[in-house]
Amino acid sequence: MLEKLNEIEKESLASLAAIEDESALETWRVANIGRSSPVMSVFSQMGSLSKEERPLVGQRANQVKVALEKAFAEKQEAVKQAALARSLATEKLDVTLPGRPVRRGRLHPATQNLRRILDILAEMGFQVYTARDVESDEYNFQLLNIPPHHPAREMQDTFYIDTGETDESRKQVLRTHTSPGQIRAMREFSAANPHNPPPIRIALPGMVYRFEQITARSEVQFNQVEGLVVGENITFGDLKGTLSDFVRRMFGQNAKTRFRASYFPFTEPSAEMDVECFVCGGKGCGICKNSGWLEILGCGMVHPDVLQNGGYDPKRYTGFAFGMGPERQLLLRHKITDIRYFWGNDMRFLEQF
Ligand code: PHE
Repeated sequence: MLEKLNEIEKESLASLAAIEDESALETWRVANIGRSSPVMSVFSQMGSLSKEERPLVGQRANQVKVALEKAFAEKQEAVKQAALARSLATEKLDVTLPGRPVRRGRLHPATQNLRRILDILAEMGFQVYTARDVESDEYNFQLLNIPPHHPAREMQDTFYIDTGETDESRKQVLRTHTSPGQIRAMREFSAANPHNPPPIRIALPGMVYRFEQITARSEVQFNQVEGLVVGENITFGDLKGTLSDFVRRMFGQNAKTRFRASYFPFTEPSAEMDVECFVCGGKGCGICKNSGWLEILGCGMVHPDVLQNGGYDPKRYTGFAFGMGPERQLLLRHKITDIRYFWGNDMRFLEQF
């Protein structure tokens, strides 16, 4: 029996020495010091030994058991240390390295300027009203006094959507301006109260689309902000006062402005508003084509037919409207020479705003 214990100790220690990882170690533990391991079974055979042998074997079995347990604990620690050393070597982290820069996002310059315009208009009491990008020919043109074949259609070359529709009015287009929103808004407000439609003071922002050759000066899509004011006793004086105030808030208290007579089918009379050239201060330069002035918006008194189409009786109500391009304003203000930068998504351009 003592022989056998020596044998067990020798073999167990030998197999333990060869172990290098934790799972093999666990297997060894179960086999060599577990409940049904050889040493443990010696204890259960004690009953069959003689009175003389029993203490000797018992003592020796205990020694072997303690020795194996101690060897196991040491091995366990060694395996753990080795694993740690391995991970320290392979997962080395240099905490002194500088961090990777995090790129901060920002709003697109066109969005920034659009929001600025809306903020200023909001201060002046204009509420935002959004209308659809896909319009019918009727809303985009006809209800705004632009019948089929009217020469004014050539001012705004149009993207038609192929729906197979043959009825002219129901043809679908990508809106060429935000003005159809005027009709949508007036109809919505007047439908709610047909005999006594409420006054209106709204700003209509959004993308508009024109079927044009893309060049440094023209794009197929750009934003517009439309303004519409309708009420009793609204005059051209209100238009001038409101827009002059807007321009001063937008471009500074000293911004000089002028109105020039113009033509739009949906306003009468119509005008365009100029501001003194930001670049040369009115002296004349390449940006203002030596005129000293930059055109920044179109405007006019809402045409009686348009009021009528919106459900507002033109005998009782008058109004004014205006439309401007946020990108165009930026273009002028920052002397951007090519409008294609706006949708080109070149970081070198976008990062400057
Ligand atoms: N819709 C016109 C355009 O796109 C601008 C405009 C709006 C003019 C409202 C007058 C009144 O050019």
